Amino acid sequence: KRLAVFVSGGGSNLRSIHQACVEGPVNGDVVVLVTNKHACGGAQYAAGKGIPVILFPKTKDEPDCLPSDDLVKVLREFEVDFILLAGYLKLIPVELIRAYPRSIFNIHPSLLPAFGGKGYYGMKVHKAVIASGARYSGPTIHFVDEHYDTGRILAQRVVPVLANDTAEELAARVLREEHKLYVEVTAALCEDRIVWRQDGVPLVRSKD
Ligand code: GRF
Repeated sequence: KRLAVFVSGGGSNLRSIHQACVEGPVNGDVVVLVTNKHACGGAQYAAGKGIPVILFPKTKDEPDCLPSDDLVKVLREFEVDFILLAGYLKLIPVELIRAYPRSIFNIHPSLLPAFGGKGYYGMKVHKAVIASGARYSGPTIHFVDEHYDTGRILAQRVVPVLANDTAEELAARVLREEHKLYVEVTAALCEDRIVWRQDGVPLVRSKD
């Protein structure tokens, strides 16, 4: 399958997904990278690997980026099957959601529906988890709809919140699981192993 990854930051999830595509566990290719921050680590990584970088939303002329006036058209030209948001901080335009039904995913660093929605991003999520006294946290992968963090939950992983955790320590523990979970879910996607329960809940079918 042909994957588009969207990033705004360091791109460690992009890196693990791309590596899994190159090394074999994921039967897919990262064919295009979309970013709203041309200089971010994720965009730099993609450029270094020869992956085309698209700036969206386009804020100024960036010679190294492809035009993004019509993102749907651009992604269609790249024959993208699935869109993976990996630390992309902008809301996804509704035209894109309509053009790619059940094909856009996001990873969030808390156990949704807790600690999600506008305002919960980056370290803010982990600080709020620690302040709440919750004993467990972990990443959620969900389908993307027109709002922040409200689409159907597809997969989660649990990590402990330790008594003296700093937000940074918790973030690092969650991020390690993010890398594994996103690769597993992407592998499932590329093998058509997402199934829908009768009540509309999506599930990842394990490999037989
Ligand atoms: C991750 O914590 C992810 O859950 C959140 O943004 C962060 C991205 O990290 N949506 P990276 O850019 O993949 O390192």
